[in-house]
Amino acid sequence: MTGSPSFKLRKATLQDVDITYQWQIHPAVRRFSRIETPPDFEDHQNWFVQSLKNRYREIWIFESAGQPIGQLRVDIGDKNEVSILISPDVTGKGYGDVALKLICDYYRDIDLWAYVKVDNIASIKLFTKNKFVHQYGNWYMLRSIKSMYSG
Ligand SMILES: CC(C)(COP(=O)(O)OP(=O)(O)OC[C@H]1O[C@@H](n2cnc3c(N)ncnc32)[C@H](O)[C@@H]1OP(=O)(O)O)[C@@H](O)C(=O)NCCC(=O)NCCS
Repeated sequence: MTGSPSFKLRKATLQDVDITYQWQIHPAVRRFSRIETPPDFEDHQNWFVQSLKNRYREIWIFESAGQPIGQLRVDIGDKNEVSILISPDVTGKGYGDVALKLICDYYRDIDLWAYVKVDNIASIKLFTKNKFVHQYGNWYMLRSIKSMYSG
């Protein structure tokens, strides 16, 4: 676990499959996803189970006062990609900022990339205020201090 007493990131478990499905199928989330068509439950469940087994992927649940209110995914690879969603019931209240700060701190030793659609204003604001810099196309990057000093 990582975070202050009221805000926490914890690793996802199989028990999170339902709540993450409810978030994933919400139109406000689908709209800004790379695949805009909502998955059916079985596809989501398969994806979730495989993701929990994948050693290059970490799924995190963001909690406020013990309640799950968001999901973050980090894929380790050529680009270490972070993606974030906050429960559509509670967006625009600053939770995305808290969650992203926690994840950036946890992965502070590696460069992090984010894929953001050009019309996703909330997400562009969120990533840029957390020091992600636009690289090209839809990609933003937060350079780790470690890689900054290693050239
Ligand atoms: C993008 C997302 C994670 C932001 O989380 P959030 O909790 O709503 O964001 P915050 O409240 O911390 O606000 C972050 C910034 O976005 C701005 N913002 C929030 N909602 C906004 C909206 N609907 N329109 C424009 N700006 C918005 C805030 O004002 C803030 O910017 P500021 O500090 O310059 O004022 C959330 O909206 C979300 O889950 N969206 C759907 C999924 C998604 O798009 N994920 C990102 C894919 S890359």
